[in-house]
Amino acid sequence: MSATTSPRTFRVKSFGCQMNVYDGERMGELLQAQGMAAAEEGADADLVVLNTCHIREKATEKVYSDIGRLRRDDGTTPLIAVAGCVAQAEGEEIMARAPSVKVVVGPQSYHRLPDMVAEAAQGRRATETDMPAEAKFAALPRRRRSGPSAFLTVQEGCDKFCTYCVVPYTRGAEISRPFADLVEEAKLLVEGGAREITLLGQNVNAWASEDARGRAIGLAGLAEELARIPDLARIRYTTSHPADMDDALIEAHGTNAKLMPFLHLPVQSGNDRVLRAMNRSHTAESYLKLLDRVRAARPDIALSGDFIVGFPGETDAEFEDTLRLVDAVGYAQAFSFKYSARPGTPAATMDGHVPATVMDERLQRLQAALNRDQLAFNKASEGKRCPVLVERRGKHPGQWLGKSPWLQSVHFIADVRIGDLVEVDLLEAGPNSIAGRPLS
Ligand code: SAH
Ligand code: SF4
Ligand code: F3S
Repeated sequence: MSATTSPRTFRVKSFGCQMNVYDGERMGELLQAQGMAAAEEGADADLVVLNTCHIREKATEKVYSDIGRLRRDDGTTPLIAVAGCVAQAEGEEIMARAPSVKVVVGPQSYHRLPDMVAEAAQGRRATETDMPAEAKFAALPRRRRSGPSAFLTVQEGCDKFCTYCVVPYTRGAEISRPFADLVEEAKLLVEGGAREITLLGQNVNAWASEDARGRAIGLAGLAEELARIPDLARIRYTTSHPADMDDALIEAHGTNAKLMPFLHLPVQSGNDRVLRAMNRSHTAESYLKLLDRVRAARPDIALSGDFIVGFPGETDAEFEDTLRLVDAVGYAQAFSFKYSARPGTPAATMDGHVPATVMDERLQRLQAALNRDQLAFNKASEGKRCPVLVERRGKHPGQWLGKSPWLQSVHFIADVRIGDLVEVDLLEAGPNSIAGRPLS
């Protein structure tokens, strides 16, 4: 394709969090509404959208190397658009450094992508990194198709300003999408095939709006309303902040049968000095007490978290507190990262940066503990019977993969279809999946 013809096929590559996956889907829908088609697997696309993540180091370098790799054997390149959080944070630099990039679009402006692509096809490079998120959703096309498990962004942005984190700068201030829009989008997703909806937000449990009668409503109320959609079987939400875990949401885990017994609640560290330096508003003790309340509402809840090792100034003893917290919680799964200094964040200029070798060693110890607990959690599921939502085919003939209520991957042989909810006996658990047998 030459730079002055309109692209006919596109590919969107999303990196980073689930909100980026959601945005990537919506960008695809926008382009389709303009008459473009998703490129076939393995085929070259006329337009490639790199939907980027800025959360940890090397993100920007990765974008440049991805751009380089998009050059084809015959020396041509597709029309390249850089979207997502790197576009927001480093858009100007990308335009200056990578002449093959024709469009730079931030996460709150991607509803303008089709116009920008049209401009670029006329030979004019286009940049758009405005922040107001509300306009975007109203400008997106109606949802039509969905897999069995769908994402629905309900809240965007973050006002928490943890000292290590770029999200408040790349995604802007916290905003909640209106209740009625979300109920409508959820219904369309279910009509389009979704049986499960995961409500998304950088701080999803800070979502707040008004219901149809103008009464204040939080995430528990939204989940209650969505539970009335007959063909919707499961509701999940992520990512939550401990400070926004209100009584109603905790209680909902005991009363809303469609709300799945799983909670991703990042703690980051088990040491109170480090937590303060991170500007997290909880202590190790307040976090553990919160989990006690959640477990009282829903005893079988599976817990998940995020951790950072090697935050500036973290001592060996402070790191040991994180291991102690992990022992106390018994996570079903968790994500753990080495601290990565992000330009423009307060932590980047703090004293006491921890040497890479120390971070490596801490991460290994933490991950060994988390892996141990994940396996133990899965092993404890052996012998249980539960519904599994069938998501896709497995590697072996007749094999299917799906998720348990506790977000474990379950594989089994059966005659089923994608989107079925199948009662399965959980037989043999490994670290990452469980072999099951459906009731016949
Ligand atoms: N809003 C969510 C998740 C934000 S990003 C929350 O508050 O938990 C996902 C995870 O990336 C964070 O929970 C944190 O563990 C990790 N992370 C964020 N910034 C980081 C940094 N600079 N270095 C290492 N890990 C980081
Ligand atoms: Fe980042 Fe903290 Fe906001 Fe999460 S709560 S997105 S870690 S600033
Ligand atoms: Fe990454 Fe942006 Fe998500 S930085 S984690 S894509 S909010």
